[in-house]
Amino acid sequence: MDRMQERHREIEATVADIREIEKREGVTRESLEKIKARLAKLAARKDLFTLEDFPPPQPGSARTSCLYRLSEDADHRFALYANAANGTYGTPAHNHTTWAVIVGIEGDELNRFYDRTTEGGVREKGQHVVRQGAGVAFLPDDLHSIHIDGKTLNFHMYGLALEQLHRREYYKPKENAWAVFPAHSDIREARAAHA
Ligand SMILES: [Fe+2]
Repeated sequence: MDRMQERHREIEATVADIREIEKREGVTRESLEKIKARLAKLAARKDLFTLEDFPPPQPGSARTSCLYRLSEDADHRFALYANAANGTYGTPAHNHTTWAVIVGIEGDELNRFYDRTTEGGVREKGQHVVRQGAGVAFLPDDLHSIHIDGKTLNFHMYGLALEQLHRREYYKPKENAWAVFPAHSDIREARAAHA
């Protein structure tokens, strides 16, 4: 079996296990920990997921990060992406409106966690660095922001594909206001059946 076939087989097996975990246990902090552990097992296959396979945008591009779609069900559920970044990349505090799990393959991605304040803003309550084998998991209403400086490759998995999430909110500190997160502008197809 060649490397690409093996990668697709490992992705399929991982997503099958994750569907099963969600079916059996629903969406809870505990089940998301299990999903995270299963994704970490996939991330351990560094030989199948490299920055050469999933290159970030070229230096000088408008974006410093892009997403590769690795798997998505016909009904748009269980969407797995590889996120490749090169340089400084960040997001404001935002929610996902579906569950989300991030696990590192290469490089460091700082995640900050927030609570909403009664004044309508956000307050940081902790942080965690996503790197090889380590990850973070979020329920639909949980808030986080991402901060990258350098080359990174990691898995981002969502209960529902990003193009289907029309009500993701992010916080604008200057205006103390929330706005709808715009759709990601650089998602590249990397599924077996679409290659
Ligand atoms: Fe996010």
